[in-house]
Amino acid sequence: MFDRVSGVNDRRAGIRVRGLTREFKRQRRRPGLGGAVRGLFAPAYDVLTAVDRVSFEIEPGEVVGYIGPNGAGKSTTIKMLVGILVPTSGEVSVGGIVPHRKRMANARNIGVVFGQRTQLWWDIPVADTFKVMRHMYGIPLPDYERTLARFQDMLAIDEFADVAVRQLSLGQRMRADFCCAMLHDPDFLFLDEPTIGLDVVAKEQIRRFIREISRTHGKTVILTTHDMGDIEKLCDRVIVIDKGAIMYDGELDALKRRYAADSVIAADVRGEVRDRARLEAAGAKSVAVSDGTVTITFDPARATAAAIVGELLRGNEVRDFSVEEPEIEHVIRNLYASL
Ligand SMILES: Nc1ncnc2c1ncn2[C@@H]1O[C@H](COP(=O)(O)OP(=O)(O)OP(=O)(O)O)[C@@H](O)[C@H]1O
Ligand SMILES: [Mg+2]
Repeated sequence: MFDRVSGVNDRRAGIRVRGLTREFKRQRRRPGLGGAVRGLFAPAYDVLTAVDRVSFEIEPGEVVGYIGPNGAGKSTTIKMLVGILVPTSGEVSVGGIVPHRKRMANARNIGVVFGQRTQLWWDIPVADTFKVMRHMYGIPLPDYERTLARFQDMLAIDEFADVAVRQLSLGQRMRADFCCAMLHDPDFLFLDEPTIGLDVVAKEQIRRFIREISRTHGKTVILTTHDMGDIEKLCDRVIVIDKGAIMYDGELDALKRRYAADSVIAADVRGEVRDRARLEAAGAKSVAVSDGTVTITFDPARATAAAIVGELLRGNEVRDFSVEEPEIEHVIRNLYASL
């Protein structure tokens, strides 16, 4: 759609971040009136390192969750990828482009949704914002119409396209924001808390949309969120950041194994439980019986449900059993507690 013959943009290049650092200078306030006056003449500053030598590479088509507690540096990183913020040091490139050096070229390759803010014009209908976007990006009419039809349909926007943005519900506005971010058919999507404040149905709509554009259209997505459902449903890989530094980068499954709380096996056993020692040898941490139900806990990093259930079946008459995986919320709580 856009001129990609120049060789500047290369979507195969993915996202490359090396030693990326961003400091913020904040004026230190001295107490009292005297302090305020002195501050006018000799301001004192604190330097806060919001992003601290962060490195990662993201290949085209990946959907990566960028997570961490409040104030970790997630939005600051996203802003550098988008080109709104200039790094203090380090390197960043998106599809072969250095965002803050070539903001316009970068803008053509990326779609951005900040859940806390909208890029739609407040007083005009969504459909009019889309038209303005077409002109801003110089999107040829046939391309625009094709893309719009596709995304409008996927996001069910028709029903409110003529309504002024300020009259939309949050879920409608977020869908419109996603459509707006996709109009120029970007290869990269940066989503900062895209499901914040949405109800379960609206969240599911947005998640389905993200899944679809990554799987069917091969888009590369970085997503920050505090909703572990987003991570579980969308991301194979997560990067965890805390106090500006990366604490973990890898598969979600491996993260779960490392920080999982105990898993639980609940079994309906006839009579007394025999061979407890063998259950323990197979990795059971605790074995409790109440009302004919045996509850066995184990650490999924050290033992498998199969080994324990195998032992249980060998020595007992088991009518039924179930294995409960640790909840992702527990995993993240344990992870954050360890930071
Ligand atoms: N423009 C700014 N000026 C000064 N400090 C800033 C600025 N923007 C962010 N910070 C500080 O940088 C740190 C990281 O902020 P950032 O917004 O990146 O966190 P976050 O991980 O997105 O958190 P949240 O989950 O709350 O959105 C915070 O301590 C914040 O106060
Ligand atoms: Mg943020």
